[in-house]
Amino acid sequence: MSKRVVIDLGCGARKKPGALGLDIARIPGVDVVADVMAPLPFRDNSVDEIYASHLVEHVGDLMAFMGEVWRVCKPGALVQFRFPHATTPFVIWKDPTHRRGVFLETFDYFDPNTFAGRAFGYYHPAKFQIVHRRLAYNMNSDTSVPGKARRLAGSVIDALANRNQRAQYFCERFWGPLVGMEEAFIWMRAIKPGRAADATAEEAPAEVAAAH
Ligand SMILES: C[S@@+](CC[C@H](N)C(=O)[O-])C[C@H]1O[C@@H](n2cnc3c(N)ncnc32)[C@H](O)[C@@H]1O
Repeated sequence: MSKRVVIDLGCGARKKPGALGLDIARIPGVDVVADVMAPLPFRDNSVDEIYASHLVEHVGDLMAFMGEVWRVCKPGALVQFRFPHATTPFVIWKDPTHRRGVFLETFDYFDPNTFAGRAFGYYHPAKFQIVHRRLAYNMNSDTSVPGKARRLAGSVIDALANRNQRAQYFCERFWGPLVGMEEAFIWMRAIKPGRAADATAEEAPAEVAAAH
């Protein structure tokens, strides 16, 4: 059996274990030095999994980027993005290299099973099915443990925000900016001929269970 191809775009110094790391910066751990704003240096339908942590907010043309991600994905390939959440202006705008704020619902535009995906599906031919999403009050809590008060607040706020998809919508739209959700995670599968586009929406890949 051929080896699964897993790439980490914008891997920086925190590459996903076992992945091929791509970054515009030539720093230790980076396997491929490339700009994700140019065509990705991978063949069509060649990648099983794409991971990008804290990259999408750096991307100038998100539509072109999503098109490239979709092009290189095999049918049904898993795409996971992790990003600072747009309800916290501080984490979005303190970094001078950030180009945009991103919400979970930003990716609805690429999922034909959502309202935005149905209404504005003509924006781009790249299609993904969202399979799991998560908001987090504390950013990077897996690598730097927040103080006790933020840990406590996070356990309550995360539970409220992630009760279901509607709760995530209310958090992003209404009360998230009041508390400042710092990070978000989304898992999607590339919809391409070769895999049914209407698989169960809340299917949780094994990788999701392992991450949370
Ligand atoms: C905030 S760091 C995240 C690093 C790592 N993924 C993490 O989660 O710790 C953003 C990374 O994206 C890279 N990056 C930014 N723009 C890029 C581009 N256009 N093409 C490739 N990499 C880019 C940066 O060099 C940097 O390493």
